[in-house]
Amino acid sequence: MIEVRNGNFFHLKNNKISYVFHVMENNHLGHLYYGKTLGELSDSDIQYLTERNNKSAGTVKFSTDDDLFTLTDRFQEYPVYGSSDFKEGAIEVSHNNDPWYLDFKFIDYRIEKKKERNLAVPSTYALEGESETLIIQLEDEEHKLNLEMQFTLFEDFGAVVRSQKLINIGPESVMIEKMLSGVLELPTANYDFLHLSGAWLKERHPKKRKLAQGTVSVGSLKGASGHQHNPFVALVEENAKINKGEVYAANIIYSGNFLAQAEVDEWDKTRLMIGINPSQFSWQLQPSKSFVTPEAILMYSDEGLNGISSQFAGFTEKHIINREWKKTPRPIVFNNWEATYFDFDQDKLLELAKLGKELGMECFVVDDGWFGKRNNDRSSLGDWYYDKNKFTKGIGTFADSIHQMGLQLGIWFEPEMVSPESQLYKDHPEWVVRHSYSRVSIGRGQYVLDFSNPKVVDEIYGQMKEVILETNLEYIKWDMNRNITEAYSTYLQANGVPQTEFFHRYILGVYALYEKILSDFPDILIEGCAGGGGRYDLGILFYSPQIWPSDDSDAIERLTIQTGTLLGYPLSTFSNHVSASPNHQVERVTSLQTRQNVSIFGPLGYELDLTKLSDEEKEEIKTCISFYKKHRNLLVHGEFFQLLDPFVDTNEVSWGVANEDKSEFIIGFYRKMAVANPPALDYIKVPFLTDDKIYSVNKSEEVSGKVLSHFGLRKPYQFNGANHHQAQVKGDFQSYIYHLVESDKNGGK
Ligand code: DGJ
Repeated sequence: MIEVRNGNFFHLKNNKISYVFHVMENNHLGHLYYGKTLGELSDSDIQYLTERNNKSAGTVKFSTDDDLFTLTDRFQEYPVYGSSDFKEGAIEVSHNNDPWYLDFKFIDYRIEKKKERNLAVPSTYALEGESETLIIQLEDEEHKLNLEMQFTLFEDFGAVVRSQKLINIGPESVMIEKMLSGVLELPTANYDFLHLSGAWLKERHPKKRKLAQGTVSVGSLKGASGHQHNPFVALVEENAKINKGEVYAANIIYSGNFLAQAEVDEWDKTRLMIGINPSQFSWQLQPSKSFVTPEAILMYSDEGLNGISSQFAGFTEKHIINREWKKTPRPIVFNNWEATYFDFDQDKLLELAKLGKELGMECFVVDDGWFGKRNNDRSSLGDWYYDKNKFTKGIGTFADSIHQMGLQLGIWFEPEMVSPESQLYKDHPEWVVRHSYSRVSIGRGQYVLDFSNPKVVDEIYGQMKEVILETNLEYIKWDMNRNITEAYSTYLQANGVPQTEFFHRYILGVYALYEKILSDFPDILIEGCAGGGGRYDLGILFYSPQIWPSDDSDAIERLTIQTGTLLGYPLSTFSNHVSASPNHQVERVTSLQTRQNVSIFGPLGYELDLTKLSDEEKEEIKTCISFYKKHRNLLVHGEFFQLLDPFVDTNEVSWGVANEDKSEFIIGFYRKMAVANPPALDYIKVPFLTDDKIYSVNKSEEVSGKVLSHFGLRKPYQFNGANHHQAQVKGDFQSYIYHLVESDKNGGK
């Protein structure tokens, strides 16, 4: 996979991609190529690839040694600003407030074949033979700094994973002002910058804008990756289609403040960079200490948006999420939040659990309100012991009853938070993230705990552990409902650590709590949640195989959230619940059919008052659950794809899942608003079918792959005022499910 020529030319290649770089004339690392695999390269190929014309007009040269060589027209692996390159660099270090112009020169390299999963740091992992890691050692002699750049290539994926380690080999401490994780330089600007952005209740809407000279960026300074922007970004070749065209995507395995940006220079070259947001960050590096960046994932596909989404999904499931979760079926959850909010006791919960069990649900999740004296969102966070008024027989007895019904049990926690009205706050007011100012910002009536302090993490884990043991817990919903303001830690101050390290140390504390829980209880399924989708990122997914993606459970809003999210994340991570109609966030009225037709894609759950269901609705739910159980693996881990371009078709959404050998598909079709006098027949082309195979469509028609993929799958026949008996969908918020099976697998109709 990794080929080194002449000790200075590096070719990372697999069946999908090649990533090529070399040691340049000035001994820095120069990037040469990332894209479709180049296979074997001859000596003359290498000569050709490394041959560069130097621009001279208007440029400053790197040194007096060479009157043509300038960094500004070279692609670099880890650029530094200010030494003949004027674009933003990836690393900045200062010493006693003096900026340093770093000069990292190649020293040596080594290749490692092991990449173990280590709970302490979220990062990629691989089994023996699945990956190779090239570690390049560089040295800045003058500044007494060593840099180790790590590039990992995995078999079968278009990914290159990068991270950097800076080691202080000098006698004095230095300040890292900026240290990004991933850089990719591309020869043109013919791309759209695609990002997933929005707000609370409308997270990760897909958006794109054309690159032009200048910089475009998304990021977060909230202490979390955030509801507003997501660290997944992509450069999509202009005119790319959903199944065709080059796409370069990037993400980081990180849950804190991030920055992802693309800068286009005066020659229309593009520099894409991603990493910890340098704003509100700097890190004091003491002598002999090192700092390691989170990993960045660069991904390439020439198969359009579906190609990049399928690459990222497969990669994340295999090399980031604990792959055991691919073998363990995700339980169908009942969550009591939108059914009861804070108004419940053990009897009410047991009644819901019994009904849920009868309908086929498998895991009962007790949401917010089970602990302390929490009857609204103004108290008790930090006091993780059960409310004796709600659980008069004890939470252990309640858990036993749930387990006796044959259900798993889940419990909600918000570990990083504390209410001013709580015992924890009374005992430890100094554990709150706040400045010494008299004014303190507050969100949802709560403060953030100082997770940069290991004692705080220990205390919270101690409390959680008791509950986990007492209830034999199978599932945790980990919420986080407010962002960090006036970031300041008295613990860091007492230990002489600069406050500019707070945000990064905070998120390391969050990971430390995950590590503690999963080391003691490796089988527990932790569902990530941050006021819904405020931390939908690869750092959280390293520990949590699924995430509650939004506090908006409305099926129609979810169409956009799901379309956006799944461009960069696996379907198996997108926890999908059927909620009440009218919906509690937007008051939209939708049919149970449509709500279920949306929610079956991904880990399924229900979150509505089951005691209010009619008999017909109960039957409808039972039918859906039995279909889901039969096809669960396909609906959770199948290859997800869009059939309509989300940037072109906004009223209609169609997505599907395919099994590994592409012999079975489930396809959802959704029309938001009814169309007056619609075309009688309209078709959507289905990708991935084999031309000469026959597919049964909903067990009622037999159609060849060539017809379905070139002519198309007939859209459901919409009510048009006259077709009373034939119409398949009516009114607004329509949906329709297709099940396609290769005929010989199905035995015909
Ligand atoms: C926000 C979550 O996203 C909801 O699902 C619910 O758990 C509430 N918090 C509880 O406070």
